Amino acid sequence: MNNGALVRLVDVHKVYKTGEWEVPAVRGVSLEIKRGEFVALMGASGSGKSTLMNILGCLDRPSSGSYFLDDADVSGLDRDQLADIRNRKIGFVFQNFNLLPRTSARENAELPLVYSTQHLSHAQLREKADRVLSSVGLAGREDHHPSQLSGGQQQRVAIARALINEPEILLADEPTGNLDSRTSIEIMAIFQQLNERGITIIMVTHEQDIAAYARRNVFMRDGLILNDHAVSQRANAAAQLQNGTARPQGAPEAASTL
Ligand SMILES: Nc1ncnc2c1ncn2[C@@H]1O[C@H](COP(=O)(O)OP(=O)(O)O)[C@@H](O)[C@H]1O
Ligand SMILES: [Mg+2]
Repeated sequence: MNNGALVRLVDVHKVYKTGEWEVPAVRGVSLEIKRGEFVALMGASGSGKSTLMNILGCLDRPSSGSYFLDDADVSGLDRDQLADIRNRKIGFVFQNFNLLPRTSARENAELPLVYSTQHLSHAQLREKADRVLSSVGLAGREDHHPSQLSGGQQQRVAIARALINEPEILLADEPTGNLDSRTSIEIMAIFQQLNERGITIIMVTHEQDIAAYARRNVFMRDGLILNDHAVSQRANAAAQLQNGTARPQGAPEAASTL
């Protein structure tokens, strides 16, 4: 059944069973996301955002309900099949960057390709990694290790790694949670640019300022969707960086790092 949705959840529930306890983390979510959307998923801690993202990212399966990804029902797939879909269609960005330490930016970015079914030569891997690192503003830093990079640069390496397999969807769980506000805007500028180029983005954030860069905001509470609306006055990260309206939160103008 094709209704144009890239992601379609139908009455999805997720119950965690820990010993005698059952935690209903997601309690009946139905959600459609079309190709090219940029969605911010919001809600208080414990509202079920990460659980939903794990399902969307094929890292976990719903306890009940259906998940159609690109019109294929993925809710019944086994671990290996889910891993295959994940590698081909989805890129992940996390709050803590999750880079391998003592490993260069280039090798971190190459990693998903090493596990992919396409068999590229060493030179092809390097060429592809360097191209995607350059696209996120890291030309010249290919040989740097994470400890030699700032938080914002580390997150760019993580974005490059997420993009290397040319995924349809980028899933980001609190991608700016460990970054100062100017660096957060730089990361949002990259996300908006990627979204302009057609990639679908689903991003968890608890910050209203960050959600304003998305096109749509979905709010969760207690495992349910409470509210879902288009962003009316969208923030433009590139414009803010250019005209200098972006500065560290709470900092007086004179103390700007610009
Ligand atoms: N692996 C798990 N085992 C048991 N309970 C979990 C697990 N992961 C999350 N939960 C519980 O599910 C609920 C939703 O958690 P989560 O999806 O992480 O929310 P959020 O990302 O919005 O903070 C919380 O009550 C949390 O404690
Ligand atoms: Mg979470």
